[in-house]
Amino acid sequence: MRWMSLLEVIVAGKDCLVAGDSCSSDESCSPRLRTLRQCVAGNGNMKLGPGARSQCANAVSALLSSPLHGCQCKRGMKKEKNCLSIYWSLHQSVIHGLNLVENYPYETVHKDYDYVRLASITADAEAGLTTVNRCLDAAKACNVDDTCQKLRTEYVSVCIKPTAKSGLCNRPKCNKALRKFFDRVPEDYTHELLFCPCTDTACAERRRQTIVPSCSYESSEKPSCLTQMQICKADYVCRSRLAQFQYDCAPSETSPTGCKQDNYGTCLLAYTGLIGSTITPNYVDNSTSSVAPWCSCANSGSKQDCEDFMGLFSHNICLRKSGCRASHFIPLVCLSPFLF
Ligand SMILES: *[C@@H]1O[C@H](CO)[C@@H](O)[C@H](O)[C@H]1NC(C)=O
Repeated sequence: MRWMSLLEVIVAGKDCLVAGDSCSSDESCSPRLRTLRQCVAGNGNMKLGPGARSQCANAVSALLSSPLHGCQCKRGMKKEKNCLSIYWSLHQSVIHGLNLVENYPYETVHKDYDYVRLASITADAEAGLTTVNRCLDAAKACNVDDTCQKLRTEYVSVCIKPTAKSGLCNRPKCNKALRKFFDRVPEDYTHELLFCPCTDTACAERRRQTIVPSCSYESSEKPSCLTQMQICKADYVCRSRLAQFQYDCAPSETSPTGCKQDNYGTCLLAYTGLIGSTITPNYVDNSTSSVAPWCSCANSGSKQDCEDFMGLFSHNICLRKSGCRASHFIPLVCLSPFLF
C-alpha cells in the first residue's frame, strides 16, 4: 500500500512546465508540440480538414512517448497557467476523438488527512456536538498559525474594502486573495474553517460568510450555470480546478465511502480549489449545509446539462460525506440538515 502510493508519486510527478521545456529543446518534439497547439487553438472548436486532422493525430501519438505524456501541475504553483496550458494542449486533443488515458491536471497530494486523523476523533464526535464551537475553534487555530492568519487577514481586508471609485469591493482582487488562501494554507486549517459543524443559524451564517459571498460572487440576479461553466472552461485554471473536482469528488453508489476515489481529503481539497473562480461554491443558506455555486438553471438552454452540473454540488454523495467527515461526525449525525 505504502510503496504503491510512493510509486504513484514518482510516476505522476512529472511537471508539465519542465516537460514542456525539455520538449521545446528537443528538435523532434518541439515541432509536434507546436502543431498540437495549433490543433487545439480556439478551444479545440476549430473545424479541421482531413489533412490537418491526421497531422494532429500524428502529433498526439508522437507526443505520447515524450515527457509530456502524463505530466501534471501543482495547484497554486508559479506559472500555474502556463503549466496547465501545456497539460491541456495534449488533453484537449480528446475533443478531436483521440482518446487518452484517464488523467487529471493536478499532482496528487498524498496526505493521510482523513483516515488516520479523523478516525481517532470520531469516537468523541457526539460529545463535541454540544460542548465545543468548532467554527470558533477553527478561527482561533488559524490565528496562531502565521500563514493562515496572514492570508486570512489579507483576503478579508481585500474582500470587505470598498474601492474609492465605485464604492463596491474589488471582486477580482478578492477572488485572487481567496485562491491564495486556499492554495497556500494547509488544509488542516482551511477545512476546519469551512466545514465546521453548526447547530444554529448564527453559526451557519458565520460559516457561510467565511468566503465573503457579497464580494466574491453575489449579484442581484443569478447568472445561468451553463454560462458560468463556459466562462470557467475558457480559463485554464478554472477549467482545471473543475476537472480535478469532478475527478476527486466523483460519487460512487457501490463504494462504502460514496466516493469513486475513496478519498475524502482530496475531494475537499478539490472543492476548495474552486473558491475564487467563476463557479465558486458556498453554503446556499444558514439553515442547511447545502452547497452550490451562485447560478441558476432556470433559463438554461439545456436543462439536463445544467442540472448535471448543479448535481455535482447539490446531489453529490461523495462531497456530502467528505464534508461530514471533515466536521468530525459520524455519518448518522450528518443526516441533520445543519451538517454538511
Ligand atoms: C439567515 O438568513 C436569512 C435570509 O438570508 C437572514 O434574514 C437571517 O438574518 C440569517 N440569520 C442569521 C442568524 O444571520
